[in-house]
Amino acid sequence: MKNILVIGAAGQIGSELTMELRKRYGNNNVVAAFRKTKPSDDILKSGPFEIIDATNFDQVKNAVKKHNIDTIYNLAALLSAVAENKPQAAWNVGINGLVNVLEVAREYNCAVFTPSSIGAFGSSTPLDNTPQDTIQRPSTMYGVTKVAGELLSDYYFKRFGVDARSVRYPGIISNVTLPGGGTTDYAVEIYYEAVKNKKFTCPLAKGTFLDMMYMPDAINAAIDLMEADPSKLKHRNSFNVTSMSFDPEIIANAVKKEIPEFVMNYDVDPVKQAIADSWPNNMDDSCAKEEWGWNPSFNLETMTKDMLKVIGEKHKKGLL
Ligand code: SER
Repeated sequence: MKNILVIGAAGQIGSELTMELRKRYGNNNVVAAFRKTKPSDDILKSGPFEIIDATNFDQVKNAVKKHNIDTIYNLAALLSAVAENKPQAAWNVGINGLVNVLEVAREYNCAVFTPSSIGAFGSSTPLDNTPQDTIQRPSTMYGVTKVAGELLSDYYFKRFGVDARSVRYPGIISNVTLPGGGTTDYAVEIYYEAVKNKKFTCPLAKGTFLDMMYMPDAINAAIDLMEADPSKLKHRNSFNVTSMSFDPEIIANAVKKEIPEFVMNYDVDPVKQAIADSWPNNMDDSCAKEEWGWNPSFNLETMTKDMLKVIGEKHKKGLL
């Protein structure tokens, strides 16, 4: 029996992951933890929740003790562009929070999933077909926290046997909770703007290729990795995973196929552009495929159809 704690349950990934984990493992076995932003009523009403600040060791420990937790999905983090404005907050949440989680996991024998990111790479990394094991010298605070997080998680595994695992997520595209302050957020916003206004102003330039993934695949990646046979894992923190790679023109054309009157303009944000230029164009995720069977199901076309359908329905109901 699993007892799971999701830290960051109100966030872009946490909000959908919590509901999926409850479906698979039972509503009462998945505790949704959040700090300031309240999650949806769906989350609050369908199972237990705790208000905790991951940077407070006792709060993490008490939640784990109280609910007899054996698995922690540690998702609390600031995204890349916002972290450039708040570097200290990004470090506090990303690293002080993670050290607390890993220490509690060591004491109470919990498995830990902490996402890393394409942001864990930098411009000295080979940016095409980025290998699993390569140079990681990011130039952003977000990336610094992700590399440190990978190292800490591997350290706690090797030194203390904490079952810590992770994936390097690309940009995640979703339709339940909006991301906030990420470089890849444009690939979410484009769908909302296409439905609402039939036009979108893109903050990244033509030709900026980045890895991306649709949320259902991102959730499967986390759960499948945590369910994987540990004897097959040669890597742990952290696996490259990707579903697709595109630039703004390619996603705009995919939207135009469904909404022919859609128009996209550009107004490049220099902070986001510099970050995107330092990240991989496309990662090699063959280790994830070999070691635990990573196999995404959505491509750009199927994701675009689904995004526009779901957001279109919300728009019709006046929910946007
Ligand atoms: N979506 C993240 C960001 O853009 C990348 O991991 O910050």
